[in-house]
Amino acid sequence: MDIANIARPEIVAMKAYESARGSASADGVLLNANEAPFTLVDDPLWQRLAINRYPQPQPAQLRSRLAGLYGVTESQLLVTRGSDEGIDLLTRVFCRPGRDAVIECSPCFGMYRIAATIQGAQVIDVPRSPAQGFELDFAGLRRELAARPNVRLVFLTSPNNPSGDLLARPQLETLLADCDERALVVLDEAYIEFCDAASAAELVGHRSNLVVLRTLSKAWAAAGLRCGAVLADPRVIELLQRVMAPYPLPATTVEAALLATSTAARTRQQQLLSLVRTGKVALVEFLQSRDWVGELWQGHANFVLLRVADAASLVEWCAGRGIRIRDFSRQPGLEGCVRLSIGSDAEMSALTRALRDYGETL
Ligand SMILES: Cc1ncc(COP(=O)(O)O)c(C=O)c1O
Repeated sequence: MDIANIARPEIVAMKAYESARGSASADGVLLNANEAPFTLVDDPLWQRLAINRYPQPQPAQLRSRLAGLYGVTESQLLVTRGSDEGIDLLTRVFCRPGRDAVIECSPCFGMYRIAATIQGAQVIDVPRSPAQGFELDFAGLRRELAARPNVRLVFLTSPNNPSGDLLARPQLETLLADCDERALVVLDEAYIEFCDAASAAELVGHRSNLVVLRTLSKAWAAAGLRCGAVLADPRVIELLQRVMAPYPLPATTVEAALLATSTAARTRQQQLLSLVRTGKVALVEFLQSRDWVGELWQGHANFVLLRVADAASLVEWCAGRGIRIRDFSRQPGLEGCVRLSIGSDAEMSALTRALRDYGETL
């Protein structure tokens, strides 16, 4: 597929900005970026990270680390400030304001719609049906795609937030074929590490219209770093980099992201995943035994979604005990729904104590 045919022509035609660090080696006497020659802070970290210097636009070591982690080549990966930035870059490169459209399947992560709206792109929603366990309306999605030639991005999430369901591989393959030569399928896998399903990253080398989003914010326990990755065909990566800020990743984030994905962290990640698994089993068991809990969507991520008669009062009750849970009840199809993240054992004990007490007030 010729990516240039579906990207915004002005971005395809634009010559990328050549930053000092992006266009010349960072070795030797550096007088090409109007930087200060030394830091004003006498601290070993500042010296080691050369904070007075601009960082690498795409830090080689981190790019290589993440490429290894996700099983793609370095040219198929762009390190971003979280998946949020990946979503924003894709929308800016592929959607012409006032003309192109994105598809989302609500309920889903809210930033797809926000990024598209900021860009002036139309948002076409193919809602999931609560009656079908929020399953994707696959036939409806294909119908919309066929009817709307201006769709450039199809945002899908697996596991989905907030319903937790997975996108089946044959459905992904069908959509990639439907979108061939006309749109990108963006599969957001922010929560994929929490389940046994294989990542679609393995398809990136074979399907030029597939984009996979990954993040260190969830299962890598590093939301504070703001670090994620876009996995895609190198031609997509090159276009995204054209619109990205010249030095998006602070040196401190790069250093911390290498630590966050170190061998030691990988071992600890197994403990986190197992804690989330057992915490979730216990929470689900607890919720299933409460007669005031209506529907419950366990999903495949580190949260559960449930429906109650009065979501606002439950959220307020928990807040009164210092526990924040997410109220989704104002979103269409999610009336009465709240999402509970799986936390530490102590946090889960506090939550179940609060929920037990709440039940007694009803
Ligand atoms: C599905 C999904 N994608 C992306 C994100 C944002 O990820 P990041 O922290 O990498 O920007 C979230 C955050 O909750 C999410 O739920």
